Amino acid sequence: MSSLLITGISELTTVDVEARVLGDAAVVIEAETIKWIGSAKAAPTTDRRVDIGGRAMLPGWVDSHSHLVFAGDRAAEFVARMAGEPYAAGGIAVTVDATRTVGADQLRELVETRVWEALLGGTTCMETKTGYGLDVEHERQAAMLAEEFVDEVTFLGAHVVPDGISADDYVDLVCAEMLSAVAPHAGWIDVFCETGAFDVDQSRRVLEAGRAAGLGLRVHGNQLGHSGGVALAVEMGAASVDHCNYLSEGDIAALAQSDTVATVLPACDLSTRAPFAPARQLLDAGASIAIASNCNPGTSYTSSMNFCVATAVLQMGLTLDEAVAAATRGGARALRRSDVGQIAVGSRADLHVLDAPSATHLAYRPGMPLSWAVWRAGVPYGIEIPGH
Ligand code: NIG
Repeated sequence: MSSLLITGISELTTVDVEARVLGDAAVVIEAETIKWIGSAKAAPTTDRRVDIGGRAMLPGWVDSHSHLVFAGDRAAEFVARMAGEPYAAGGIAVTVDATRTVGADQLRELVETRVWEALLGGTTCMETKTGYGLDVEHERQAAMLAEEFVDEVTFLGAHVVPDGISADDYVDLVCAEMLSAVAPHAGWIDVFCETGAFDVDQSRRVLEAGRAAGLGLRVHGNQLGHSGGVALAVEMGAASVDHCNYLSEGDIAALAQSDTVATVLPACDLSTRAPFAPARQLLDAGASIAIASNCNPGTSYTSSMNFCVATAVLQMGLTLDEAVAAATRGGARALRRSDVGQIAVGSRADLHVLDAPSATHLAYRPGMPLSWAVWRAGVPYGIEIPGH
């Protein structure tokens, strides 16, 4: 098996248990795994080598919350929002119509393009959700498409209640026929626990059915108000509760005492003009946080984790190190994965090289095209490796 030595790493941010930041570092990868990390001077001999020219390296982003299976856009809704309209869950129906209407090949191309854009922006592990199908066949197709392209698939049939059916009848459908059709293609179940979507009791039913089908639990909670989604997620031992814009002190304390990761979505908060999720208070209280893109056409039409990390630093009071950790290891924890989100011996070789000497430039130069190269599972993108 051929090994590759990467040198010329001006700053290596490992985000491993020791949270090491090494200068003049080197990394060895073999097949899809990291084999060695250390000082360039102590690097072992390998079959091939590449010098990245004095650039910073960090783990690939782990984007633990996105909705990539959709067609159309909602630019008009965005314009109205910027003119003062509030975000409401009802807009989801517009994307459901567009997604059901588009051909399967076109939808595949859209998803593939979005995953590719994310990869070139440094995202090497990605979760995505169904939720723009909202009937048995379209939800199943969305999950099958997602599993072709991303690491983690979440069933979000309980995104909003479609027209022509009562909420309770729709929850019955989600928990029975729809779940049976989608579960073979998903690892997670999620529910939008919010006014205008599903209340706490309906959400609990969805999560219980998903758990009985062998899926892990995730919740969209407390995005638009004090929905009870965070308390439900903690009560049910969900891996993650996402959004978290409206948290009581009790919610923060409950998260801090739980294994549920609070996933914050800075780009969504900007694009909906919502109060930023209290990431600083969550960390100070001892909760685990993740940062994710929430790429979707309604509330956050970007997959740029660089942008999310910069926003978390510039607007949410996190340090650069905290934001990088939340967007790598935090995302991995939210997906209950230990193989990604850190540069450690034995981890998947998911590496992100910045066209900058240090990771600080992510927030110091926001919006600049800093992602220079990536390796995902040992495969390089954006860089020529001699002999590869
Ligand atoms: O995570 N909040 C629910 N779902 C998405 C938005 C979906 C949409 O408006 O299309 C979110 O923000």
